[in-house]
Amino acid sequence: MTAPSETVLEAEGDAGGDAAAIDQAMLAEVLAGLAAPRKTIASKFFYDAEGSRLFDAITELEEYYLTRAETAVLQQQAADLAERIGPGATLVEFGSGSSVKTRILLDALSGLSAYVPIDISGDHLDAAAKRLAADYGLPVIPLHADYHAPLELPPQVPRDHLLGFFPGSTIGNFEPEDAAEFLRRLRSFLGGAARLLVGADLQKDPARLEVAYDDAKGVTAAFNMNLLVRFNRELGSDFDLKGFRHEAHYDADLGRIEMHLVSLRDQTVTLDGQRIAFAAGETIHTENSYKYTLESFGALAQRGGWRSEASWTDPENLFSVHLLIAA
Ligand code: AVJ
Repeated sequence: MTAPSETVLEAEGDAGGDAAAIDQAMLAEVLAGLAAPRKTIASKFFYDAEGSRLFDAITELEEYYLTRAETAVLQQQAADLAERIGPGATLVEFGSGSSVKTRILLDALSGLSAYVPIDISGDHLDAAAKRLAADYGLPVIPLHADYHAPLELPPQVPRDHLLGFFPGSTIGNFEPEDAAEFLRRLRSFLGGAARLLVGADLQKDPARLEVAYDDAKGVTAAFNMNLLVRFNRELGSDFDLKGFRHEAHYDADLGRIEMHLVSLRDQTVTLDGQRIAFAAGETIHTENSYKYTLESFGALAQRGGWRSEASWTDPENLFSVHLLIAA
């Protein structure tokens, strides 16, 4: 996955629409994806304000076990983890979403030197950083950056004892080769003495996986469809929201959930003056969410320049958390 250097415009929360500047990098990327023989849209576009709200709602769904299972693993293993890490570490989190999981680590790890949350959403980041700094009496050094692009630690961050944290099975959004490459980049960013704590969803019964991505209340469907709402508002496209439906299916050979938006009929959509034709049943591929086994994740970590120090799962074996050490 190569992240273009893009100017992030604060288009959300903007009522009028007409006067707002169009994010040209986003427009170009969406147009290219829709011009391809197999139409795709990058899953990073899910997370406008509404998409982030819908994702938070997903994490509360009965069917979406991932967040609960990972939280349970962290709670169960916090003491073991703290013992392995020892005092004085600096916690560096990639994509600081909800701070629930972070707080488990901040509660458990003794004498942390600092906490460095890295996130592309600056407002969210600064607010969360202030709260955590106050609650834990800890230096919090937020880094407003896209962690897909090259990163540099702020100079005041102690570098001798770093613990990276990449929760949520977000690594599952990368193609496995890109995930290995990303892990290599984290290895060189964090250095040869670092550890990395990563959450990865596990392969399991396809039916269980598919309902996690196609819930009864339709929250995941709304999350997927929100892409079209967003493009209509921010890019001026004319997607007919009644002309598409959400689909999620598990490909057991590839070990991934795929999400698509399926065109319900032959139709044409206009975006930036270009007409995009859809045949009935044709889809836009909007997300891959790779699922691993303990073994396949260990092999991935190794390709990424890490070795597994410990791997933990929840009692139901739904989700895994891996403590990696630079190889
Ligand atoms: C945030 C990427 C881990 O793949 O499970 C949830 C996103 N997509 N429901 C995932 C998501 C549909 C989620 N990640």
